[in-house]
Amino acid sequence: MKKLLLLGTCVCLWTVVSAQKWEGVADTPPMGWNSWNKFACDINEELIREIADAMVDSGLADAGYLYINLDDCWHAPERDADGFPQCDTTRFPSGMKALADYVHAKGLKIGIYSDAGRKTCGGRFGSFGHEYQDALQYARWGFDYLKYDWCESDNINPVGAYTLMRDALRAAGRPILFSMCEWGDNKPWEWAADVGHMWRTTGDIGLSFSEQIVHGTWEQNSVLRCLDLNAPLRKYAGPGHWNDPDMLEVGNGLTENQDRAHFTLWCMMAAPLILGNDIRQMSDQTAAIVTDPDVIAIDQDPLGVQGLRHSTDQGLEIWFKPLINGDWAFCLFNRTKTPREYTIDWQRFNFTDDEVSGRSTSFDTIVYDVRDLWYGGKSFRTDRKHEVTVPAEDVVLYRLTPSAKQPRRK
Ligand code: GLA
Repeated sequence: MKKLLLLGTCVCLWTVVSAQKWEGVADTPPMGWNSWNKFACDINEELIREIADAMVDSGLADAGYLYINLDDCWHAPERDADGFPQCDTTRFPSGMKALADYVHAKGLKIGIYSDAGRKTCGGRFGSFGHEYQDALQYARWGFDYLKYDWCESDNINPVGAYTLMRDALRAAGRPILFSMCEWGDNKPWEWAADVGHMWRTTGDIGLSFSEQIVHGTWEQNSVLRCLDLNAPLRKYAGPGHWNDPDMLEVGNGLTENQDRAHFTLWCMMAAPLILGNDIRQMSDQTAAIVTDPDVIAIDQDPLGVQGLRHSTDQGLEIWFKPLINGDWAFCLFNRTKTPREYTIDWQRFNFTDDEVSGRSTSFDTIVYDVRDLWYGGKSFRTDRKHEVTVPAEDVVLYRLTPSAKQPRRK
């Protein structure tokens, strides 16, 4: 009996000491919408409800987008008398529980935002010193996702701070996806696979394709800077723990070519697809980009391997992503401002992905059927070279599937 009691105590203590993150909430890269890129601090419950309506009515929910995420500035000026967080009742008069219920009733999930430091980046109260209370309140309100920022965090240990919130979320008892937003400052890819479900690998994205946006002491990253910071980290990503090159700017004012390239490259990198535009008034062109099922399938592929930049040929990048059942995604990305004619010689691309998947392209022994995912048309095969024009700042994206008709082996 005594031995049993002792064992019971040990198991119990072990469970308390070694909390784990919630499993099964991000087996493929999370998809949803976040308020920051378009609305910044200007958010309220009416907007969020309209966004939830639009998510369903516009077909985005059917395409796989699930989370409606509030970013900064939902907060009241102060916590309540017991130290629990409370929302700004002028902007959210019905309260957070009612908002979560509304979003859930549409078959969607809802996310909230906080900060590991003393204040959020928008100057609202942070979670430092209130982690367990905050996690409990988010769970009681019915949130399913937490984005956790890193402002006002001087002298706070990042591993400790993010692990503490992971444990608090676990203890609160509601599965909540944990999105870490410390901008890659402390290389979370090296230590956070057991802590968060995704981690930012970059500072903030801005509405610019190739040029940095400079604001005195800080800069917003161009789409291409986010791409270049995220691309080399592929070995750290996988089911349940994704590199996050920041939210999408598609539909916010880039050109159609740039939007298509931005979205495609995020899919090639198995990045979370968190929309940042006003989905209540999306153009047909934007909707066609962000809801394309074949392109989304590249991002959401169950193998969960982040694609690789195989090589670059005078501003033309050649990307591969191993997919389920021996398929590959193949992308040509033209970084330059002039269209580019290119002859694809598949035999130049025989390689093995030693770094992550161990998969080989084997163009010398396997013939693939090739489907053009953006432009359609007749499919072709990899036993011939293929000529293509890649528009400026745009992509060509193919899905390669081992052909039913393989050449006879000699
Ligand atoms: C930081 C984050 C952004 C956004 C703002 C909100 O800059 O990186 O994504 O959440 O804070 O203030």
